[in-house]
Amino acid sequence: MQSESIALQSDPSGAGRTRARSTQVDGPDSAANLEQFWRDYMTVFDELNKSGPFRGTVDRHLELLKPRPGDVVLDAGCGTGNLAEAFVKVGARVDGFDFCQVSLEQSRKKVPTGEFRFADMRERLPYENARFDKIGSCLAMHLLDRKAQEALLRECSRILKPGGTIAISGFARSFRPLGPVNGYIATLSHWMRTKNPLGGTVYAVLNAKGAAQISYYIWQIMGREKRGMYDFFSARALGEIFSQAGLEMVQCETVFAGQCVIALARKPVS
Ligand SMILES: C[S@@+](CC[C@H](N)C(=O)[O-])C[C@H]1O[C@@H](n2cnc3c(N)ncnc32)[C@H](O)[C@@H]1O
Repeated sequence: MQSESIALQSDPSGAGRTRARSTQVDGPDSAANLEQFWRDYMTVFDELNKSGPFRGTVDRHLELLKPRPGDVVLDAGCGTGNLAEAFVKVGARVDGFDFCQVSLEQSRKKVPTGEFRFADMRERLPYENARFDKIGSCLAMHLLDRKAQEALLRECSRILKPGGTIAISGFARSFRPLGPVNGYIATLSHWMRTKNPLGGTVYAVLNAKGAAQISYYIWQIMGREKRGMYDFFSARALGEIFSQAGLEMVQCETVFAGQCVIALARKPVS
């Protein structure tokens, strides 16, 4: 939705007339609308925890990063704290950041031992050099344009210990046009295969509303990617971005029923 204000401006021709000039002061990508968007989306986001492909994506970060008890780990763009919670369960000490207050509130509730703070992925991160053994970022870094991704990965490299690892996931460039629906269908077929058809049917009925809500927000994100605000992931682009940041990409694969990409990289020791 776009609201416009009409300003009356003197005609620079000096003819003494006035003319109407339309100025866009608000729009789908204005700061206020984005803040509202994340507030609303993060209120329903945990519906995704009922989705096998989403949980599989969270778990894959742990399988790649292999956090150990006592490791100091960062959840970048922590959202409602799903990845942070998984890190804490294996005994890691967790910091997390996000620029949405609803996200931070939910993370603090879900992971009381975590240290969560307000920070923007597009700015210098509020952590000292070489603080972290591991960094994970689940479905957040694709919400930046390419330049901001490059700057963020340089920041991640700065705050990662030598030898430390980073795993990031995000929407794949092929995530269109039925990505959200595919996630729902994949969850449904997962139920049918691993549990039973009755369970699958119950899942479909109980989760139809949540799936529709999540799909609505995901379609808005896809719209922003089309307008050039975001750069969805490809293995090639991630390889370039890691390399520019002084990180070595170890592996890259698809997750979330093929809709998303996850990559692991390491900071060289010297
Ligand atoms: C799709 S959610 C993923 C949440 C969480 N990582 C998970 O998987 O459960 C994306 C999160 O990124 C956050 N985010 C988006 N752009 C951001 C930015 N520029 N700086 C910090 N956080 C941002 C949003 O507020 C939201 O909480």
